[in-house]
Amino acid sequence: MTLILGIETSCDETAAAVVSDGRTIRSNVVASQVDLHKKYGGVFPEVASRQHVVTMLPVIEQAMAEAEVTWNDLAAVAVTYGPGLAGSLLVGVNAAKGLAWARGLPLVGINHIEAHLYGNWLAETPPPEFPTMCLIVSGGHTELILMREHGQYSRLGGTLDDAAGEAFDKVGRMLGLPYPGGPSIQQAARAGSPAAFKLPRAWLPGTYDFSFSGLKTAVLRIVQKYQSKAGARPGDERPTAKPRVISSQTPPVMRVLPTANLAASFQEAVVEVLVEKTCRAAEEMEAKSIALAGGVAANESLRSAMVARSPVRVHCPPLELCTDNAAMVASIGFFRYSQGERADWDLDVVPGLRLAEEPSA
Ligand code: KG4
Ligand code: ZN
Repeated sequence: MTLILGIETSCDETAAAVVSDGRTIRSNVVASQVDLHKKYGGVFPEVASRQHVVTMLPVIEQAMAEAEVTWNDLAAVAVTYGPGLAGSLLVGVNAAKGLAWARGLPLVGINHIEAHLYGNWLAETPPPEFPTMCLIVSGGHTELILMREHGQYSRLGGTLDDAAGEAFDKVGRMLGLPYPGGPSIQQAARAGSPAAFKLPRAWLPGTYDFSFSGLKTAVLRIVQKYQSKAGARPGDERPTAKPRVISSQTPPVMRVLPTANLAASFQEAVVEVLVEKTCRAAEEMEAKSIALAGGVAANESLRSAMVARSPVRVHCPPLELCTDNAAMVASIGFFRYSQGERADWDLDVVPGLRLAEEPSA
């Protein structure tokens, strides 16, 4: 049995986990900073890195205790070194280096985007069959990647502007929904009709790329139209809110923002493009499976639409492993460690790290 300690601090979650043989979670501790960042409507980088400093060591200690392991039981320490926020990454990388050095353990540097994929190796079901068509959709990334083997990737395309999760977060803010927008939109959409608004889809034919900025602008235009009517503000549709009366002389225009319908129509537009392009790519590349990853992979509508349309088996990480965590880091850490990969002690953070692609020949 090979036990790996994973450490993850690329954005606003301080996380540590112990995983055995890349597939069995012994502990998975995530200290979320979501409440700290709520008032900014997004992640405030300086606040994030300072909070990582406070929570890093207690989170690691908790992960070790919950896994009931000692430092002598570990084979290696795996840590995310990019992509992500530089200040946040530095906290995790330096903690990992210090601890690994002090305990005489090897260090393995992990790419956060790749780590997301390994949420699929932590599910109860058999892991994805290679080649697998991977759709990685998070707050920072939207990537379509063909994975031929562990560590062998070809990037087919990605977003040209906003990441899918970023679009969810921005539209959530426009609709006056709580941060983060993804889960809030999913929740609001349950009470709405996806057919209520006809929103644009950027198909970008002949490419495997995505674009969400036109869709986002289309939602903004609709919100502005409602706002220009007296009394309408985002969120006013909720039962307790009453339209604001501007003056007793001018009767108010009773048009409130149909938040649920807009949320449902927006979600459907995003999901339709993600599903169709991923499935077409899987067909064209003769993939044997599809693997979803990243925070947006937690979206129930995306998961069910992908399963319904896919020609091959669809793998989704367990819900709690879609968003940032360290179990996925420890899982990929095991496969990298087993392949003989070791990081040098001068491992630095790489905020703009991309996926290492195999040569196209
Ligand atoms: O993977 P993640 O935790 O962080 C990054 O690496 O970016 O993803 C966070 C993103 C946020 O944009 C959040 O709104 C989105 O994932 N998200 C969702 C859902 N849950 C989280 N988007 C749509 N539906 C969800 N249920
Ligand atoms: Zn992530």
